[in-house]
Amino acid sequence: MKLFNHYTSNMPTSGIQKIFELSQGIEGCIHLEVGQPDFRTPEHILDAIVQAGKDGFTKYTAAAGIPELRQAIAKKVTEKNGFSAEAKNVVVSPGAVCSIMSSLIALAEPGDEILIPDPAWPNYIMQAACVACKAVRYPLVPSHGFQIDFDSLERLVTPKTKIMIINAPGNPTGVVFSRETIERIVKFVKKHDLFLISDEVYEEIIFEGNHISTGLYNDDGRIVSIFGFSKTYAVPGLRLGYTVCEEKLADLIAKLQTPLVSCPTSVSQKACLAALEGPQQPVYDMLKVYRERRDVAIEILKNSGHYLYTPSGAFYILIDISGTGMNSDDFALTLLKEKKVAVAPGETFGNTTSSFVRVSFTTDIDKLIEGMEILCESITAGL
Ligand SMILES: Cc1ncc(COP(=O)(O)O)c(C=O)c1O
Repeated sequence: MKLFNHYTSNMPTSGIQKIFELSQGIEGCIHLEVGQPDFRTPEHILDAIVQAGKDGFTKYTAAAGIPELRQAIAKKVTEKNGFSAEAKNVVVSPGAVCSIMSSLIALAEPGDEILIPDPAWPNYIMQAACVACKAVRYPLVPSHGFQIDFDSLERLVTPKTKIMIINAPGNPTGVVFSRETIERIVKFVKKHDLFLISDEVYEEIIFEGNHISTGLYNDDGRIVSIFGFSKTYAVPGLRLGYTVCEEKLADLIAKLQTPLVSCPTSVSQKACLAALEGPQQPVYDMLKVYRERRDVAIEILKNSGHYLYTPSGAFYILIDISGTGMNSDDFALTLLKEKKVAVAPGETFGNTTSSFVRVSFTTDIDKLIEGMEILCESITAGL
């Protein structure tokens, strides 16, 4: 019999999913592993879901999304992200994950090399496998707050390098890039004639500094900006994200959505239009809570001697467990079984974080404090 696809059958599975599934049978488990907002979706968005359903808005839509949503997104990008976009530059997809996937299908050829951060959200590696490309990891340096090491990055470029992926605010690091860093990245991709896929789904979850969109520098069409609704509006299950890019590429991505997904979900588009046009206070309220949780986690780390850095954005922190002598998979598994605390093993994000675990600030503050204290005691005690 012929074999399954070599690239996809060999791609790694997510270590977060593994811990999450194992934790399901454990009563009283404290969940610090999942990366989705724990807040209830704001009422006006819920109302829009119901209204769309009642209005019969449950049919297929245009592949690139409904015109009024594309228009509203273009307005948001122009006003908030600060670079001018029109509806023709916007493609709406079922989740930012699909926005990235369809961008990769539009840009990558089999055998191309894609520069992916190490550590990074594990889906990028899987997506590179889906387009039969080689994932080349560039390091984010733990001792420098997980910023890019540009010298190492430079050495990784080959004639096959075609795309660089960046993610800020970052998962799992919480890193935020300064304007200088963004300008350096843009200079780098121009120098080597690469496309830049800029994953900005955590743009609204920022504690220090400002979010600088790479789209500000898209003067020759090589930058593809990816945004989402899941994190900003606590609607991960609505599955809606969007790509903003130069018109010809947007047309190609929209065309690709037909064989991939036909179109983004109709009801979700109405709900996300309500999210963009409605009150933004819920976004600021959630940010305030994430900040409180982050500050409490930092305090516990400082008090227990396990502090390394302060994440400036997103809702994650990486914690060094190298003192235990264990790798992160074994540590996370033992912590779950013996202490009933679920964390994400760093190995799943890349080699750089094989002796780190990731904690998400997506649990209420009491549980977060309890879980963080157990985690820190376990690191000190070598588990
Ligand atoms: C870095 C990053 N990009 C993209 C996504 C996907 O977001 P969406 O729910 O819009 O597909 C996630 C979700 O966890 C993420 O962490």
